[in-house]
Order: sequence, then structure tokens, then C-alpha cells
Amino acid sequence: MQFSKRIEKLETSIFSHMNSLKRQFEEKNDIKVINLGIGSPDRPPSIEVRQTLSQCVMNEDSYRYPLTDGTESLRKSIAKWYWDRFKVKLNYEDEVLVLMGSQDGLAHICQAVLDPGDVALVPDPGYPVYSASVLLADAVKYPMALAHDNDFLPVYEDIPEEVCSMAKMMFLNYPGNPIPAPGTLEFFNDTVKFAQKNSVIVCHDNAYSELAYDGFVPASFLQAEGAKEIGIEFHSFSKTFNMAGCRIGFVVGNSQVIKALTSIKANIDYGVFLPVQRAAEVALENYKEWVMDNSMVYQKRRDVLVNGLQAIGWSIEKPKASMFLWAQLPSGYTNSQEFAELLLEEAGVLIIPGIAFGKHGDGFVRIALVQEENMLLEAVERIKTFL
Ligand SMILES: Cc1ncc(COP(=O)(O)O)c(C=O)c1O
Repeated sequence: MQFSKRIEKLETSIFSHMNSLKRQFEEKNDIKVINLGIGSPDRPPSIEVRQTLSQCVMNEDSYRYPLTDGTESLRKSIAKWYWDRFKVKLNYEDEVLVLMGSQDGLAHICQAVLDPGDVALVPDPGYPVYSASVLLADAVKYPMALAHDNDFLPVYEDIPEEVCSMAKMMFLNYPGNPIPAPGTLEFFNDTVKFAQKNSVIVCHDNAYSELAYDGFVPASFLQAEGAKEIGIEFHSFSKTFNMAGCRIGFVVGNSQVIKALTSIKANIDYGVFLPVQRAAEVALENYKEWVMDNSMVYQKRRDVLVNGLQAIGWSIEKPKASMFLWAQLPSGYTNSQEFAELLLEEAGVLIIPGIAFGKHGDGFVRIALVQEENMLLEAVERIKTFL
């Protein structure tokens, strides 16, 4: 059998490598690994969301093919939520598209925008699907380095002229995964100017817009002047509403880009299961109280873990948003993969090496706040013994 060259180019996942080390550890040691690896919410969705789902699955009409673009009712709810939350006006008819998780849209957007050999700008470190999406379109990625000394924002002036003129699109992600840095409206305004000058389509991934701490309120890229003329923004119900397994998300913004993505998807899928779309509407209706409670849980976990690690000599910045710590390696370590493997093999704590997110991620590890506080304290104890 022969397979495509594309498959060979897809990077083998460090996530699955870490998981197989986890299995080996548990077989050998008879203690459970504390998994702070994958960013999958450990808490359930709200009772209202679960009740809606359970009622809708009993409805005989729930089982026809949904349409690719999402129900009119959900698209209206999304447009309304966008106005309430960001004061951005959206036309639900052509500026909103429901997705089978934001991953679906992020993975397919490059098919809609890029031809083989075209260039896309991707953040490095960045969430892996951006690079994979570019690869699957047989296009070329240009990594934009995100450095601590520039608040993890790309420096557009550093991108060579010829790359700027060849680039057709870019991915951004603030607050992000793996880097929880916030994006400011000022940065988004600069991004619009850069994108207009170079005819670049901006794809902002705002999966963590509703997980923020200490009163910080993340912005939408579409709040920037002129953003809707050149860009789109992805959202996820997975993190905001703990609905990761329900597979629903959405993308909003420029109608031409949305139309292009819709035509790719119309050839691939038939849309999201109707009960899940209805549950998503209910989630949006109750977002204010839910989001506040949910963020508070993560904020407490952040404090427990960062303070605990600080007390044992590992100093980590407290993130303002998202469900991750982006931690510089403790002194004496330089290789993120080696450090994460040792920590797993010797202490039974699973975290993700920064190199999994691009070469500029080495020197860091990503720690997901996906365990209850008592388990985080136990993780601190194990790390203390290890260090
Ligand atoms: C930054 C970012 N974008 C998108 C996704 C995908 O989310 P969804 O479950 O909506 O596909 C994730 C999931 O971890 C993420 O971290």
C-alpha cells in the first residue's frame, strides 16, 4: 500500500508519545499518573445543557441531516451573544457558521484559502492544528516567533518583505494555547493594518475568550477597526462550556471567507447533531453566570498550583486567562522533552514539553489546570521530590 506524502509530513504527536509513557509508568508503578497534559476540561457542562440534550435526543425530528451551516436559531443566538459580549454586529445569515468543534474549521480553512505552495503565517509556539491545516493544503508555513520579551506577540516588522508579499493568511490565538498571553485591542489594530497592507486573511482563534481571571476580559479580534473586512474568528464550546465531547464550535466574521469555508465543508460533512446545536443555544443563553463560576474554579486552581510551585522554588507567571500555565523550565534544565519525560517517569506527573508546539517552545512546558485542587497539591509534592 502507498499513502500520500502529506501523511509523512504530519508531525508524529508528542501527545501520544507522552500517553504511552503514562501507560508504561502506571503498569510499572501501581500509582496513577497525575495528568496535567491534554487540555480537556474535567468538569461537566451545566445542568441546563445536559437536560436540553437529553430532552432533544428523544425528539423524533432530531435525526434528520442538519445543514452544514447550522440552524438559523443557533446562528441568531451566536450573533446575539457576540453583540452582548463584544459589541460586534454580525449578520447571522452570512457572517456566522456553526462548526463540528472549532478544530473542524481550523483544519479546513486552509483548503478554502490556500493553493499548493502558498504561504501561511503561523504562531510558534502555536496550537498544532494551524501547522497541520497548512500542510494538509500542501502549502508552506512561516513560523512567527512568539517571545516573552514581546509579550508573546509576533513582531510583524521581523517578517521578511518577500514572505509578507507571498503570505495569504495567518493564524493568531490570544489568549492562547499553549501560551496564555492576552491579545490587546492595540495589537489587533496593528494586525489589521499589517493584514490590509499585505492582503493577508486573519484567522483568530478565540477558544479561550471566556476563561479569564482577576477581572481581565479578553477582546475579540473583530473589535479592531476594519477587522471584519480581512478576518474571521473561531470560538469553541469545549472550553467555555465544558462541552468538548459534544463537538460544536463556530466561526464568525468576513462573509466571503465564511462562504469559502462553507463550500469546503458542504462537501465533507452534514453539520452538527441537532440536539447538540440546541444545547449550545441554551449554553449561550446562560453564559454570564456560568462563565463567571467556571472561571473562578480555574482561577483557584491556577493560584493553588502557581503558589505551590513558587514555594518549592519553581517560579511561574500567573496567567490572566486560558487553562494553561506556560512555564519556563526550572534551572538546570534546557530541553523540554527531556524534562517532561523525566518528570513523568520519576514523579508520575504528565505535562507537555513546549517543543510540541514549535521550536520556539523549547525551554518551556505547558501545564493544564485540568485536575481538582487536591490533585494539584499532590502534583506539587511529587514535583518537589523530583526536583
Ligand atoms: C487554541 C485551541 N483552539 C481550538 C481548539 C479545538 O477546540 P474544539 O474542541 O472546539 O475543536 C483547542 C482545543 O484544545 C484549542 O486549545
